[in-house]
Amino acid sequence: MNSETTYLRSYTLKKEQIPPVISEDIDDYERESLKKKIKELLDQQEAVIVSHYYTDSDLQILADETGGCVSDSLDMARFGNQSSAKTLIVCGVRFMGETAKILNPEKRILMPDMDANCSLDLGCPEDEFSKFCDENPEHVVVVYANTSAAVKARADWMVTSGSAVDVINYLKKKNKKIIWAPDKYLGEYVQKKSGAEMLIWQGSCIVHEEFKGKELASLRKNHPDAKVLVHPESPSSVIEQADMVGSTTEIIRAFGDMNAKKFIVATDKGIFHKMKELANNKIIMEAPTAGKGATCTSCAHCPWMAMNSLKKLLHVLKTGENEIFVEDQIISSAKNSIEKLLKFTSNNQSIGLANDA
Ligand code: 13P
Ligand code: SF4
Repeated sequence: MNSETTYLRSYTLKKEQIPPVISEDIDDYERESLKKKIKELLDQQEAVIVSHYYTDSDLQILADETGGCVSDSLDMARFGNQSSAKTLIVCGVRFMGETAKILNPEKRILMPDMDANCSLDLGCPEDEFSKFCDENPEHVVVVYANTSAAVKARADWMVTSGSAVDVINYLKKKNKKIIWAPDKYLGEYVQKKSGAEMLIWQGSCIVHEEFKGKELASLRKNHPDAKVLVHPESPSSVIEQADMVGSTTEIIRAFGDMNAKKFIVATDKGIFHKMKELANNKIIMEAPTAGKGATCTSCAHCPWMAMNSLKKLLHVLKTGENEIFVEDQIISSAKNSIEKLLKFTSNNQSIGLANDA
């Protein structure tokens, strides 16, 4: 077996590595009382909530009400970087908290649950990944945001779903060969779009991987007027049927902008909260996860994102537990790959990175 086949094997998680999807059951009285206490502590501690769209709607509403942000991974990183708050409470998954710390080492970063991880991060161990990079030294190393701080430290570039195609197109123009990790579906999508030469790590998102192409085709037949919005972590059989492929923010934007009444959405259903807020008169249908090969480990809801809750948020504000720390050495290397992306996106690809790819 050569190095390519050794490292480009499938990184499938064991069942016991995937937690069940659990949501917090609280009544209106408890919700309001938790929110009131959280708001007081946020004020006292000069803290803001930085939340992803996949978290519980209670957290998204609270983030909006308190001057925090609810967004995709790219804008979570940007917001944290620009915020003057002393503490960022990252409601999302581990890599989002680590990215916030890398960009803002002087700030205190707290997370409601330290076990909130991501199958892509878990499927790309730093030691194996580094070995793979070492064996392919002529390649530029591009990693998705959904990776550990240590993997980002090994990379030349970090990208997000909203920026991956632009960055790879940019590198392709410079005739660079690319190592891509860890999401194989996003990697294949970007490769098709750009035509770049890419070695693709074989990780996957357990949530998006469940969407089924054949069943989606049947649903579309029954609803020919529906537009299909797809996150690029989905399999190619699903992506191929999309009217629009993009990051979570781009999906929400397309939902608002497209002149249609009905939408089939292939991403975590936590996003429906923002979509309904934007256009309550439009119909949202979940892309099918059932059908041939269905396992429904998550039923289109990320079990790690679901670990975030109001109760846990209050607990970390009260106790200061669950602070994210990243080693200084890792911060300085990982910062390069993340800041390169922030610079690239803010300059809209017009920067002169001639010797910096
Ligand atoms: P976005 O950056 O598009 O929000 O994606 C993050 C993610 O984890 C999707 O599963
Ligand atoms: Fe990771 Fe998938 Fe959850 Fe996103 S939805 S955080 S990619 S496991």
